[in-house]
Formats: sequence, C-alpha cells, structure tokens
Amino acid sequence: MLISFAAFGQQAPGYNLGRTPTPDQIRAADITVLPDGTGLPAGQGNAVAGEPIYKSRCAVCHGPGGEGRKGEYPALVGGRGTLATAKPVKTVGSYWPYATTVWDHINRAMPFNTPHVLPVNDVYAVTAWILYLNGIVTRDQQLSDKTLPKVVMPNRNGFVVDSRPDIKAKR
Ligand code: HEC
Repeated sequence: MLISFAAFGQQAPGYNLGRTPTPDQIRAADITVLPDGTGLPAGQGNAVAGEPIYKSRCAVCHGPGGEGRKGEYPALVGGRGTLATAKPVKTVGSYWPYATTVWDHINRAMPFNTPHVLPVNDVYAVTAWILYLNGIVTRDQQLSDKTLPKVVMPNRNGFVVDSRPDIKAKR
C-alpha cells in the first residue's frame, strides 16, 4: 500500500493548472495561531489603544460594552459563572480557553463584514480591550506575541480533553 502511494507520488502527472505559490503568498495565507501562541506575529497593544479601535470597528455589532445584540451578534463580555447553569452565556470572558485563539479569530474573521483588515498591533490592542472589559487584563497591560500566550483565561480548564487514543490532545 505504502509503496503504491510512493510510486503514485513520483509519477504524478502535470495538469498545467495554476502555478506554485510564491513564499509571500504562502506567508499571507498561513495565519493560523495555535493555543500555545505558535504563529503569533511580532507586535503589541494594550486596552488603551484598543478602545478607539473597538468603538469604530466592532461596537456597531457587538455593542458599546461588548454586550452583543440578542439573536444577531454574540456578546463578547460577561457570562462568568453561567456555563454550568440552565442558561449558559458563552463569551470571550466566560468560555474561551485561550487568549491566543481569540487573537486568531479576530485577526482572521473580524470585523465580520471586512475580515482580516486590521494591522497586527490593532489586533493585539482590540484583543486587550475585550480582555480588559472581561476583567482579565489591566487597562495598560501590553499584550504581545510573548505575553499573550501567558494570559490565563477564566475557563482555561473547563474543557474535557479528547481521550481517544489517536488524538494527541493535551491541555
Ligand atoms: C458586521 C458585524 C460585526 C462586526 C463589525 C464585528 N463583528 Fe465580531 N462577530 C460578528 C458575528 C456575526 C460573529 C459570530 C460569527 C463568528 O464568530 O464568525 C462575531 C464573532 C466575534 C467573536 C467570537 C465570539 C464568540 O464567543 O464566538 C469575537 C471575539 C469578535 N467577533 C470580535 C470582534 C472584534 C474585535 C471586532 C472589531 C475589530 C468585531 N468582532 C467586529 C459580527 C461582527
């Protein structure tokens, strides 16, 4: 089986479709940030810098204080202590286990109507603002590629590790 795959690889025909991406194109598409911070680009920002960015680019959907709009746009703030109740409120503060993946989500998917337009430092700053609104960082705490992975989110240990033997998940 293995041998036949290898042979196939060697003889893969050329289809004359597309072209090999340049290193720059691969870098532009390769934006994944892992929970441990791998993939975070160099940069920094704090909540002070993030507040005006949030107000001009995010508040229209997520509300001035991150409270969201019921049935339309998710709340980003609050909900702590509700996850195990009959009415769990999942937000960045109550639910997300890693600050790094919040950064990734904002960087790749927000603002929802024009995603991936924020400069790197603005993503750090607006992430800091949302964490500040949730009481997780202080107003002037600088978050960077070095410090963001060290932020401990309130629900950090609220997830069950996948115990299937072929999954190498760890906390
Ligand atoms: C046009 C409306 C709109 C704007 C503007 C917008 N968002 Fe969102 N946001 C959404 C929607 C819809 C979702 C849910 C879908 C998703 O997660 O992709 C969402 C989800 C999120 C989430 C994940 C919430 C969760 O718990 O799943 C975060 C974090 C977030 N937005 C941050 C931001 C930030 C920061 C900005 C500004 C830079 C922003 N958003 C601008 C509509 C918007």
